[in-house]
Amino acid sequence: MTDLFDLTGKSALVTGGNNGIGLGMAEALASAGAAVAIWGRNSDRNKEAVESISAFGGDVFSFDVDVSSEEAVVEAFAGTVDVLGHVESVFANAGVGALATPFGEMTTQEWQHIFAVNMEGVFWTFREAVNHMKPRRTGSLVVTSSVSAGVGFPRGEHYAATKAGVIAVIKGIAVEYGRYGIRANAIAPGWVVTGMTDEFIEGDRFVENVKPRIPAGRWGTPRDFAGIAVYLASDASVWHTGDTITIDGGYLQY
Ligand SMILES: NC(=O)c1ccc[n+]([C@@H]2O[C@H](COP(=O)([O-])OP(=O)(O)OC[C@H]3O[C@@H](n4cnc5c(N)ncnc54)[C@H](OP(=O)(O)O)[C@@H]3O)[C@@H](O)[C@H]2O)c1
Repeated sequence: MTDLFDLTGKSALVTGGNNGIGLGMAEALASAGAAVAIWGRNSDRNKEAVESISAFGGDVFSFDVDVSSEEAVVEAFAGTVDVLGHVESVFANAGVGALATPFGEMTTQEWQHIFAVNMEGVFWTFREAVNHMKPRRTGSLVVTSSVSAGVGFPRGEHYAATKAGVIAVIKGIAVEYGRYGIRANAIAPGWVVTGMTDEFIEGDRFVENVKPRIPAGRWGTPRDFAGIAVYLASDASVWHTGDTITIDGGYLQY
């Protein structure tokens, strides 16, 4: 039987692939045999990530892209197709966290910035992706949502709204594009130690209040997203669409 999880000959794009969860997914995709492109704003971090992903095998490319710019996304997607030839899976993972501002003090600018990256960035990335995938009759779209999409997230209403919004987007795409062999799913991580969280996640109050509510007994790591990334990029998931897969060490069940 052929290896369902073998990504040899396939290509994947991971936005926000130079750090954290995106880097964990990109390394896993490369080690399963995929050619990988990563997008991020920080050029130095992009270069470092290309080196670390390359250690897992395959061709790896990076693009300096700010996904909150429509023009930048359109240009980078075309450039990505140029270097990879074809893109079978697109992980819209680039995102920014909330500043823990009380809702009553939240500025319009703060609200709009979170939406520009976490929501519009996903829209433009997936719009370019479906137009590439539709004539090829195959493709997997994956967005990094969050457990905050489904529970109250105080001082992060804007962040949680974007993470709930992208779930609605993948459900619509799953229905609209299923006939073209395109599937769309979301991953909802719980608390994961990354560049987004490392400043507060090991703080005394956070460890005391949040860690005991994780049945698995530890924070997540980027490696915890390796398996789901390979599964969703592979032929093993061809009939899996419109779903949100929670990976949180049991946090939501507590
Ligand atoms: N960590 C958690 O506990 C957690 C939980 C639930 C969901 N998530 C989600 O997981 C995803 C990845 O976050 P992470 O935790 O891995 O954080 P991270 O380590 O800070 O990584 C964020 C990534 O997104 C990129 N990025 C940020 N803004 C961007 C922009 N405007 N354009 C292009 N790239 C941009 C960053 O690269 P540059 O800075 O170089 O642009 C970086 O590669 C996010 O969507 C986040 O909301 C995280």
